[in-house]
Amino acid sequence: VPGRGSSAHTAEAAPNFALAKYWGKADDAAMVPAVPSLSITLDGPLTRVTVHEIDAAEDEVTLDGEPVDERWRARTRRFLDVARCRARVRGSLRVETTGGVPPAAGLASSAAYFAALARAASETWGLDTGTDAVSDLARRGSVSAARSVPAGFVVLDPDHARGDVLAAHTAFPARHWDLAVLVAVVDPGPKEVGSSDGMKRTRETSPYYPAWVESSRELFERCLRAVEDRDLAGLGAAAESSCTRMHAAALAAEPPLLYLAPATLGIIDAVRRLRSEGTGCFYTVDAGPQVKVVCPEQEVERVREGIRAAGGVHRVLVHRPGGGTARPEASGDH
Ligand code: DP6
Repeated sequence: VPGRGSSAHTAEAAPNFALAKYWGKADDAAMVPAVPSLSITLDGPLTRVTVHEIDAAEDEVTLDGEPVDERWRARTRRFLDVARCRARVRGSLRVETTGGVPPAAGLASSAAYFAALARAASETWGLDTGTDAVSDLARRGSVSAARSVPAGFVVLDPDHARGDVLAAHTAFPARHWDLAVLVAVVDPGPKEVGSSDGMKRTRETSPYYPAWVESSRELFERCLRAVEDRDLAGLGAAAESSCTRMHAAALAAEPPLLYLAPATLGIIDAVRRLRSEGTGCFYTVDAGPQVKVVCPEQEVERVREGIRAAGGVHRVLVHRPGGGTARPEASGDH
């Protein structure tokens, strides 16, 4: 970066969205998921993280030039402590984030953030910058962040752990299947419970949590097979089940976790209507009211119109499979 000291390192990453969901940890401290997940890493919006080594007692963390709130700063520091321990260094970093979507907006921004930060910190401190090592480190910031490091259709399976190393990997490259992902951004309602707290509450209080964990591998395998076969209907059925079962388990927690807003249900309804009229598409929803709709490239306009007509949609972002933090250059224009 021009004008900066030699210790500045920048990395970019994009969100990923799970088709087969991760919800629940087998080990909270080690950030090990209880279930396998399959996601699509998108080609944007890119979160850009620049880190500098600084001569200070504590890490400094900014978002678009402003200091972040205390919770986010503490979480970043805890993450950097893991990286410092691996690198056997003690120094502090200034972490500057720009672009992407604001953290905790329910748009998987923490995944892009920790993926980019894991790469930038690894470069700064001379850690292994291979995809596996960066993915494994990113997981310690947010489990889903491990999946934003590789590109395309990505798997994170706790059965693949080697000792305490657990990385996500590309099961199929982005070009495997010409899909589009539309993100319907719903007007934010009351503040939701973050994923980490929500899944912990689900595990501790929902009688449906064991059933969710038990059924997740079968759904994961169905999703993986459907991606391999480019079977949109099969993938939609399995991915929607993974989504609704995750939300059913969360809804049954005490107090209940209700991530679905009225507009969310309206969009889900619109997707089902589009499908009954012959448009191939399916939905998925994470720990917030936003709806992601997956469809073949040629259906984008029809789907966009359909979900806009549902009402309550703030804006619609359209992205494609892509991403990964290992790209040598910034993304090209589409
Ligand atoms: C609903 O990865 O954000 O998006 O590991 O506690 O940071 P932590 O949680 P996070 O949870 C993501 C949950 C999800 C489903 C998914 O992405 O698989």
